[in-house]
Amino acid sequence: MPIYLDNNATTPLDERALEAMMPYFREHFGNPASTTHAFGWAAEAAVDLAREQVAEAIGATPEEVVFTSGATESDNTALRGALRPGDHLITFATEHNAVLDPAAALARSGVEVTVLPVDGHGRADPEELRRAIRENTRLISAMLANNETGTLHPIRELVEVAHERGVPFHTDAAQALGKVPVDVEELGVDLMSLSAHKCYGPKGVGALYVRRRPRRVRLEPLIYGGGHERGLRSGTLNLPGIVGFGRAAELAAESLPTEPERVRGLRDRLWELIRAGAPYARLNGHPELRLPNTLNITFPAVPASDLLGALPGVAASSGSACTSAHPEPSHVLRAMGLSEEDATCSIRLSLGRFTTGEEVESAAGQIVRAARELRHQRSVA
Ligand SMILES: Cc1ncc(COP(=O)(O)O)c(C=O)c1O
Repeated sequence: MPIYLDNNATTPLDERALEAMMPYFREHFGNPASTTHAFGWAAEAAVDLAREQVAEAIGATPEEVVFTSGATESDNTALRGALRPGDHLITFATEHNAVLDPAAALARSGVEVTVLPVDGHGRADPEELRRAIRENTRLISAMLANNETGTLHPIRELVEVAHERGVPFHTDAAQALGKVPVDVEELGVDLMSLSAHKCYGPKGVGALYVRRRPRRVRLEPLIYGGGHERGLRSGTLNLPGIVGFGRAAELAAESLPTEPERVRGLRDRLWELIRAGAPYARLNGHPELRLPNTLNITFPAVPASDLLGALPGVAASSGSACTSAHPEPSHVLRAMGLSEEDATCSIRLSLGRFTTGEEVESAAGQIVRAARELRHQRSVA
């Protein structure tokens, strides 16, 4: 199998999360909503524990954690649940489509939407946000860490600006958990989206953090039914998925003191090797205020699709996996000011918990050789 450098698309399931899940596929198959027998009680206890584990990992209380099918659903619930026609939403140009697409849908149904630009590193400007807030602004949404470049927004500063005007703040933290500290109290956010499969948990499960104190954010559910998850997300809970997410979140929090630094060392080594062999390569995103695992690199005159095609031994991507069905130049890189040509010639390498030093050395060699060959074919020096 190729060397896996696409951990921002998805991470492998950690064995320990899988182990925690297994009994909930087999003997403990009960419905957590069944209150009349031991099968239901066992399932409910497992969901309670997972809720505590997720809450603990983000500095929340268990009652503030709503389980969903993933960050896409959490983003949709935050935006579509909070906004009505005539309200105003502010978000940013480099958001994931899980935010930008519901924002566009809301705009079609009468919500006023402002999409603010970012600087050349992909960061938002709190002063610009301050100027954009209106009387009818009801939500601001800015991602904690960008999935393509890893750039971190100044969330705390943005939240301060929002709260000065009493506007609730949502952040998509799908890429952040386990890579940088994520604490809802420190950040001050009111709503936060999480995804299990970005932090070595299973796919198809995530959470929306909904602040309760000092002020509860009122949301209308997207899915009505049995009133699960305090009425915010009906439907029988994904018991094994939730158990796996809980364990993965616990492991993410436990590994925070050491894992990101190890990964950062490998990531920096990878960039050093690439730069040594391909001095024309350019790094996208903020040089420091960035996830420790992510490299987004432009190889001028080398289209990403050609480069990735010439790299059977390396699993990487151009931009976001979720939009790879639409091979358009990345909206994130374009918003940061890259030309269409340069955005088309950029790849993302994202390392993870299981990346090794040998893999980094080997991947760097393969990438440098492939880029050199492709530039040679195009007669670029
Ligand atoms: C920033 C961000 N938000 C949302 C998502 C979607 O998450 P999920 O796959 O859990 O729906 C992703 C996944 O690529 C992401 O990177």
